[in-house]
Amino acid sequence: MRKGEKIIVVAMLASVGLLAWMKEKKSSIDDDNLDVPFYSTATKEVTDRAAKTMHDIGCRKCHSLWGVRDLSQAVPAPALDGMGMFRDEEWLYTYFSAENPQEILPSRLKPEYRMPSLASLSEEERRNLANYMANLKLHDWFFQEAKEARYEKLTGKDYQPDD
Ligand code: HEC
Repeated sequence: MRKGEKIIVVAMLASVGLLAWMKEKKSSIDDDNLDVPFYSTATKEVTDRAAKTMHDIGCRKCHSLWGVRDLSQAVPAPALDGMGMFRDEEWLYTYFSAENPQEILPSRLKPEYRMPSLASLSEEERRNLANYMANLKLHDWFFQEAKEARYEKLTGKDYQPDD
């Protein structure tokens, strides 16, 4: 083997080793995440913008997100975690743009607890928020539990399997 060939062989072995190491590392990260039922497929840019909008509006006064909500409030709104499993981006954009969101999704709650209109946000902010929410996902093993909890929050009734 000439010197140049040796270098190529060594480089190839090193990259195979590196790929194996990265694969191993990735699978251990996935395993750790099995305890956390939620995940997001949104880009960092979309996430950062949405975080600012959500902070300004105070979505956590009523909703939980990443399992966290404002503990001083007790509005029985559905969790936002995994929203992309229940609503698509277009639906979310339309809902956030409505002057009266209850025309799209009726409320069972007192007016002050209901979903407020986000129509005064800029179109870009509403699109960004819809994209972020559509990218909030749940692991399969948590889906049924989340679906039942959401049903109970939205209707105030026990979950009915045929609904
Ligand atoms: C004053 C309480 C309140 C605030 C603040 C609020 N929401 Fe809501 N939201 C609700 C309630 C309650 C519902 C259920 C429908 C209803 O009763 O109006 C709801 C419904 C929703 C839904 C549809 C849920 C589903 O399961 O289909 C989405 C999505 C949503 N809100 C997102 C947001 C986002 C994002 C923010 C912040 C930018 C926000 N909400 C701020 C109370 C609130």
